[in-house]
Amino acid sequence: MRDAALVIEDGAVSAVEPAGAAGDEHLDAGGRCVIPGFVDSHTHLVFAGDRAEEFAARMAGAPYEAGGIRVTTEATRAASAEELERLGAARRDEARRAGITQLEIKSGYGLDVETERRLCEVATRLTDEVTFLGAHAVPAEYEGRAEDYVALVCGEMLAACAPYCRWIDVFCERGAFDAEQSRAVLEAGRAAGLGLRVHGNQLGPGPGVRLAVELGAASVDHCTYLDDADIAALAAGETVATFLPATDFSTREPYPDARPVIDAGATVAIATNCNPGSSYTTSMAFCIALAVRDLRMTAEEALQAATVGGARALRRDDLGRLRPGARGDAVVLDAPSYAHLVYRPGVPLTRQTIVGGRVVASA
Ligand code: NIG
Repeated sequence: MRDAALVIEDGAVSAVEPAGAAGDEHLDAGGRCVIPGFVDSHTHLVFAGDRAEEFAARMAGAPYEAGGIRVTTEATRAASAEELERLGAARRDEARRAGITQLEIKSGYGLDVETERRLCEVATRLTDEVTFLGAHAVPAEYEGRAEDYVALVCGEMLAACAPYCRWIDVFCERGAFDAEQSRAVLEAGRAAGLGLRVHGNQLGPGPGVRLAVELGAASVDHCTYLDDADIAALAAGETVATFLPATDFSTREPYPDARPVIDAGATVAIATNCNPGSSYTTSMAFCIALAVRDLRMTAEEALQAATVGGARALRRDDLGRLRPGARGDAVVLDAPSYAHLVYRPGVPLTRQTIVGGRVVASA
């Protein structure tokens, strides 16, 4: 809509109507574009340490290896809850400045019962969408004993973490957890009352996407390597295909083609996957630009994927749209249209970020 007013009452959108609406407080967007706040449905925001050297080596030709997760695990185990919360809150604030109004946060850099529990507890102070990802990697002390580690994840670790979480996730990939191990983790999580999410088809073709659809997961994330059967499964199922284009950028994987996935009728999302190894960014605008430039989405599809697509990946119908009843989450762009998110890559266009009707960040 042009020349419109977004009316927010008691934290929720009550109307979108022609400019000039009555209200106790006004924020004049001055003809700028207003979009729904970005819904980032995949992050690993709570961690300690830095892997810039690993990134530099990769840019110089080294391959991405999920083994880097162990490096972050070592630093994260050594950090206190207070330190982890400070680091996570700084990244949450950075995300807000980039227009993200809802975050999902995964554990997964603890990989022992107490550190995973600590990560989940810290994450609850930053978001209401917390995911238990004990099955992120097999830690060094379980080398060669993956089955024992899966038993720990499904037993004591899940029991310690589930009270803080809404979701369980598993990295279903060669070098991480195979299909049967992933199934065991997801089924244990479901029995504990958690919803399901899957990391799948990131580093090569694999069973992750089809397993996610079969088990009714809310989302399967990465989807870098999809074959026709994966696309058909996504189109027929309820699982959102979440693309993480900044990860493909940072790991030098090929970009997936979103076109056949969208054209087949699957629901798609885009997320930042903010983490220290494969995607250290909170810029959803960057992800949108890549989605249009390299994944072959239109600007409209990419904006939808980063807003209402993310909301669907979290099974939330109160987020990702500017319509009556939705939470009053919006972004005022320093631009006349959302197309500028792609047209002006790398330029920080977020002027104000609004959560529940309150300005939480402004340029
Ligand atoms: O989603 N794929 C697994 N987990 C993260 C990577 C984590 C890391 O390298 O530290 C991801 O890309």
